[in-house]
Amino acid sequence: MNAPSASSLVFCKSIHHGNTARVAGAVCSVLGCEFVDPDAVPAVIPAGCGLLGIGSGVYYGRMHPALFAWLRKLPDAPAGTTPAFIFSTSGLPFLADLWHRPLRRLLARKGFDVVAEFTCRGFDTWGPLWLTGGLNRTHPDERDLERAGAFAEKLRDACGR
Ligand SMILES: Cc1cc2nc3c(=O)[nH]c(=O)nc-3n(C[C@H](O)[C@H](O)[C@H](O)COP(=O)(O)O)c2cc1C
Repeated sequence: MNAPSASSLVFCKSIHHGNTARVAGAVCSVLGCEFVDPDAVPAVIPAGCGLLGIGSGVYYGRMHPALFAWLRKLPDAPAGTTPAFIFSTSGLPFLADLWHRPLRRLLARKGFDVVAEFTCRGFDTWGPLWLTGGLNRTHPDERDLERAGAFAEKLRDACGR
Protein backbone atom coordinates (compact mmCIF):
# COMPACT_ATOMS: atom_id res chain seq x y z
CA MET A 1 0.00 0.00 0.00
CA ASN A 2 1.28 3.46 -0.86
CA ALA A 3 1.03 6.69 1.10
CA PRO A 4 -2.38 8.38 0.87
CA SER A 5 -2.91 11.68 -0.90
CA ALA A 6 -2.46 14.76 1.25
CA SER A 7 -6.14 15.65 1.25
CA SER A 8 -7.70 12.33 2.30
CA LEU A 9 -6.15 9.90 4.73
CA VAL A 10 -7.85 6.48 4.87
CA PHE A 11 -6.94 3.74 7.33
CA CYS A 12 -8.12 0.19 7.07
CA LYS A 13 -7.45 -2.95 9.09
CA SER A 14 -8.84 -6.04 7.40
CA ILE A 15 -7.63 -9.31 8.87
CA HIS A 16 -10.29 -11.98 8.31
CA HIS A 17 -11.15 -12.28 4.59
CA GLY A 18 -10.08 -8.88 3.22
CA ASN A 19 -13.74 -7.81 3.22
CA THR A 20 -13.15 -4.33 4.58
CA ALA A 21 -10.13 -3.83 2.34
CA ARG A 22 -12.45 -4.28 -0.65
CA VAL A 23 -14.77 -1.60 0.71
CA ALA A 24 -11.77 0.65 1.40
CA GLY A 25 -10.63 0.13 -2.19
CA ALA A 26 -14.02 1.22 -3.55
CA VAL A 27 -14.05 4.30 -1.33
CA CYS A 28 -10.45 5.25 -2.10
CA SER A 29 -10.88 4.92 -5.85
CA VAL A 30 -13.49 7.69 -5.62
CA LEU A 31 -11.49 9.83 -3.18
CA GLY A 32 -8.34 9.47 -5.25
CA CYS A 33 -6.14 8.05 -2.52
CA GLU A 34 -4.89 4.69 -1.28
CA PHE A 35 -5.64 3.26 2.12
CA VAL A 36 -2.96 2.46 4.66
CA ASP A 37 -2.53 0.08 7.55
CA PRO A 38 -2.50 2.05 10.82
CA ASP A 39 0.33 -0.15 12.10
CA ALA A 40 2.49 0.94 9.16
CA VAL A 41 2.45 4.71 9.63
CA PRO A 42 3.26 7.12 12.49
CA ALA A 43 0.38 8.74 14.38
CA VAL A 44 0.56 12.12 12.68
CA ILE A 45 -2.13 13.91 10.69
CA PRO A 46 -0.29 15.27 7.64
CA ALA A 47 -0.62 18.97 6.93
CA GLY A 48 -3.33 19.43 4.30
CA CYS A 49 -5.35 16.40 5.41
CA GLY A 50 -8.96 17.49 5.07
CA LEU A 51 -10.72 14.16 5.51
CA LEU A 52 -9.92 11.12 7.63
CA GLY A 53 -11.46 7.72 6.89
CA ILE A 54 -11.07 4.84 9.30
CA GLY A 55 -12.44 1.33 9.04
CA SER A 56 -12.08 -2.36 9.80
CA GLY A 57 -13.99 -5.56 10.30
CA VAL A 58 -15.68 -6.13 13.64
CA TYR A 59 -13.98 -8.59 15.95
CA TYR A 60 -15.62 -9.64 19.21
CA GLY A 61 -17.89 -6.62 19.17
CA ARG A 62 -15.16 -4.07 18.49
CA MET A 63 -13.47 -2.54 15.51
CA HIS A 64 -9.80 -3.46 15.21
CA PRO A 65 -7.64 -2.34 18.18
CA ALA A 66 -4.97 -0.94 15.83
CA LEU A 67 -7.37 1.87 14.85
CA PHE A 68 -7.79 2.84 18.50
CA ALA A 69 -4.06 2.55 19.23
CA TRP A 70 -3.23 4.86 16.32
CA LEU A 71 -5.81 7.47 17.33
CA ARG A 72 -4.85 7.38 21.02
CA LYS A 73 -1.34 8.53 20.11
CA LEU A 74 -2.73 11.75 18.64
CA PRO A 75 -3.11 14.75 20.97
CA ASP A 76 -6.67 15.54 22.13
CA ALA A 77 -8.19 18.43 20.16
CA PRO A 78 -11.49 20.31 20.11
CA ALA A 79 -14.11 18.33 18.19
CA GLY A 80 -14.95 19.48 14.71
CA THR A 81 -11.46 20.32 13.47
CA THR A 82 -11.30 17.72 10.68
CA PRO A 83 -14.15 15.77 9.05
CA ALA A 84 -13.95 12.01 9.42
CA PHE A 85 -15.86 8.93 8.36
CA ILE A 86 -16.08 5.40 9.71
CA PHE A 87 -16.61 2.25 7.66
CA SER A 88 -16.92 -1.39 8.59
CA THR A 89 -17.93 -4.83 7.46
CA SER A 90 -19.29 -7.38 9.89
CA GLY A 91 -21.34 -10.49 10.29
CA LEU A 92 -24.15 -8.43 11.80
CA PRO A 93 -24.00 -4.97 10.19
CA PHE A 94 -27.43 -3.96 11.49
CA LEU A 95 -25.59 -3.48 14.80
CA ALA A 96 -23.06 -1.08 13.23
CA ASP A 97 -24.24 1.81 15.36
CA LEU A 98 -23.07 -0.20 18.35
CA TRP A 99 -19.86 -1.47 16.71
CA HIS A 100 -18.88 2.08 15.65
CA ARG A 101 -19.72 3.83 18.93
CA PRO A 102 -16.35 3.57 20.77
CA LEU A 103 -14.46 4.71 17.66
CA ARG A 104 -16.91 7.57 17.11
CA ARG A 105 -16.30 8.76 20.68
CA LEU A 106 -12.53 8.53 20.41
CA LEU A 107 -12.56 10.40 17.08
CA ALA A 108 -14.54 13.23 18.67
CA ARG A 109 -12.02 13.41 21.54
CA LYS A 110 -9.21 13.70 19.03
CA GLY A 111 -10.79 16.63 17.23
CA PHE A 112 -12.64 14.88 14.40
CA ASP A 113 -16.16 15.53 13.26
CA VAL A 114 -17.69 12.21 12.20
CA VAL A 115 -19.75 13.27 9.21
CA ALA A 116 -20.68 9.88 7.71
CA GLU A 117 -20.60 6.16 8.40
CA PHE A 118 -20.78 3.16 6.08
CA THR A 119 -21.32 -0.48 6.78
CA CYS A 120 -22.15 -3.65 4.89
CA ARG A 121 -22.18 -7.39 5.35
CA GLY A 122 -18.87 -9.23 5.30
CA PHE A 123 -18.15 -12.92 4.77
CA ASP A 124 -17.75 -14.41 8.22
CA THR A 125 -16.34 -17.82 9.02
CA TRP A 126 -15.55 -17.14 12.63
CA GLY A 127 -15.66 -20.15 14.99
CA PRO A 128 -18.53 -22.56 14.40
CA LEU A 129 -19.72 -20.58 11.36
CA TRP A 130 -16.86 -22.20 9.48
CA LEU A 131 -18.66 -25.56 9.75
CA THR A 132 -21.74 -24.21 7.99
CA GLY A 133 -19.81 -22.53 5.15
CA GLY A 134 -19.97 -19.13 6.80
CA LEU A 135 -22.32 -16.18 7.04
CA ASN A 136 -22.78 -13.57 4.25
CA ARG A 137 -20.91 -15.85 1.89
CA THR A 138 -20.92 -13.51 -1.12
CA HIS A 139 -20.35 -10.19 0.68
CA PRO A 140 -19.22 -7.58 0.11
CA ASP A 141 -20.75 -8.08 -3.33
CA GLU A 142 -20.90 -5.73 -6.32
CA ARG A 143 -23.93 -3.94 -4.92
CA ASP A 144 -22.18 -3.33 -1.58
CA LEU A 145 -19.16 -1.93 -3.42
CA GLU A 146 -21.36 0.30 -5.55
CA ARG A 147 -22.98 1.59 -2.36
CA ALA A 148 -19.51 2.22 -0.91
CA GLY A 149 -18.57 4.17 -4.06
CA ALA A 150 -21.76 6.23 -3.89
CA PHE A 151 -21.08 6.90 -0.20
CA ALA A 152 -17.61 8.20 -1.13
CA GLU A 153 -19.02 10.38 -3.92
CA LYS A 154 -21.33 12.08 -1.45
CA LEU A 155 -18.45 12.61 0.95
CA ARG A 156 -16.22 13.97 -1.79
CA ASP A 157 -18.90 16.44 -2.84
CA ALA A 158 -19.72 17.46 0.74
CA CYS A 159 -16.10 17.86 1.84
CA GLY A 160 -14.75 19.24 -1.40
CA ARG A 161 -12.14 16.50 -1.72
C1 LIG B 1 -12.42 -13.35 15.51
C2 LIG B 1 -13.65 -12.77 14.86
C3 LIG B 1 -14.61 -12.15 15.63
C4 LIG B 1 -15.76 -11.57 15.02
N1 LIG B 1 -16.66 -10.92 15.81
C5 LIG B 1 -17.74 -10.35 15.23
C6 LIG B 1 -18.70 -9.65 16.03
O1 LIG B 1 -18.56 -9.50 17.24
N2 LIG B 1 -19.77 -9.11 15.41
C7 LIG B 1 -19.97 -9.22 14.05
O2 LIG B 1 -20.99 -8.72 13.55
N3 LIG B 1 -19.07 -9.88 13.26
C8 LIG B 1 -17.97 -10.44 13.82
N4 LIG B 1 -17.04 -11.07 13.04
C9 LIG B 1 -17.22 -11.10 11.57
C10 LIG B 1 -16.35 -10.04 10.89
O3 LIG B 1 -16.62 -8.75 11.40
C11 LIG B 1 -16.62 -10.03 9.38
O4 LIG B 1 -16.30 -11.27 8.83
C12 LIG B 1 -15.83 -8.92 8.71
O5 LIG B 1 -16.33 -8.73 7.40
C13 LIG B 1 -14.35 -9.23 8.67
O6 LIG B 1 -13.70 -8.19 7.98
P1 LIG B 1 -12.26 -8.36 7.30
O7 LIG B 1 -12.36 -9.50 6.29
O8 LIG B 1 -12.01 -7.04 6.67
O9 LIG B 1 -11.31 -8.66 8.43
C14 LIG B 1 -15.92 -11.66 13.61
C15 LIG B 1 -14.94 -12.32 12.84
C16 LIG B 1 -13.82 -12.86 13.45
C17 LIG B 1 -12.76 -13.55 12.60
